[in-house]
Amino acid sequence: MINRYTLFGNPVEHSLSPRIHQLFGEQTQRRVEYTATLSSEESFAADVESFRDAGGRGCNITVPFKSQAFELCDTVSEAARIAGACNTIKFLADGTLAGHNTDGSGLLQDLKVTIGFEITGKNVLIIGAGGATRGALFPLLAQQPSRLVIANRTLQRAEQLAKEFADYGEIETFDFEQLAALGDAFDLVLNATSAGLHGETAPVPQAVFTTDSCAYDFSYTRSIENPQTAFLKLAESYGCTNINNGLGMLLEQAADAFFIWEDVRPKTRLIGPQVLANL
Ligand code: ATR
Repeated sequence: MINRYTLFGNPVEHSLSPRIHQLFGEQTQRRVEYTATLSSEESFAADVESFRDAGGRGCNITVPFKSQAFELCDTVSEAARIAGACNTIKFLADGTLAGHNTDGSGLLQDLKVTIGFEITGKNVLIIGAGGATRGALFPLLAQQPSRLVIANRTLQRAEQLAKEFADYGEIETFDFEQLAALGDAFDLVLNATSAGLHGETAPVPQAVFTTDSCAYDFSYTRSIENPQTAFLKLAESYGCTNINNGLGMLLEQAADAFFIWEDVRPKTRLIGPQVLANL
């Protein structure tokens, strides 16, 4: 029997997840089929239910349905509850939907294990105040950085997040002008904006980077000729050499989802950067 999974998103056709899960299936010798399904705000709930009713075992959810997925689930993990978003659903035998969020755990696994960056005691700056930042705040705060700053074009959105997550730790908020005026440097600079989708970057000031900073972009490009995102190019132009795109995070969150469904975690280190870049 083949265990069937799908990814709901919009857009979804360029997703690497079907190939990643195919590699995981081969590596773990599980018979899995993983497809990508275009959905819409109106049809999302019905799409998930019809996939389950047709024998699906679970699904992943990407932009823009993670909050809707959270609302749809009967039970949610702590990570999903705190993020208010689900990227993974397991269809349980009794017909209920169990929601999870593996984005944060995927980010930590990539940062700490693959890249070897220890967050505890470090100064961390996260750019953006949308869904990606929301999902990352609790996992980052749980690592006890010495300082966590959100910078966003719209200051109010950053302030709102800081308020919502106040129980988990202190978060400072700035817009880009204030950040530039501050002049502080950070050990870790994460880009969680959606600017990269349009080949753009937020105006991150030079002063936030030192040559030792770790620059990490949640997004990635699939262009062989132009492999670096606009944010990472900017960081590099400011002398930063520790440059990391979101492919590692994508792989790790997928491995955590696979574990939730299949009870075995694929060995992501066996899937090198070369394989990832050519997926
Ligand atoms: P999602 O939740 O799907 O990530 P979102 O809520 O629209 O999408 O969040 C996108 C984030 O990227 C926001 O922080 C947005 O800044 P605003 O809150 O000011 O809208 C940020 N963003 C998108 N394009 C940007 C750009 N060109 N420059 C700077 N920030 C940008």
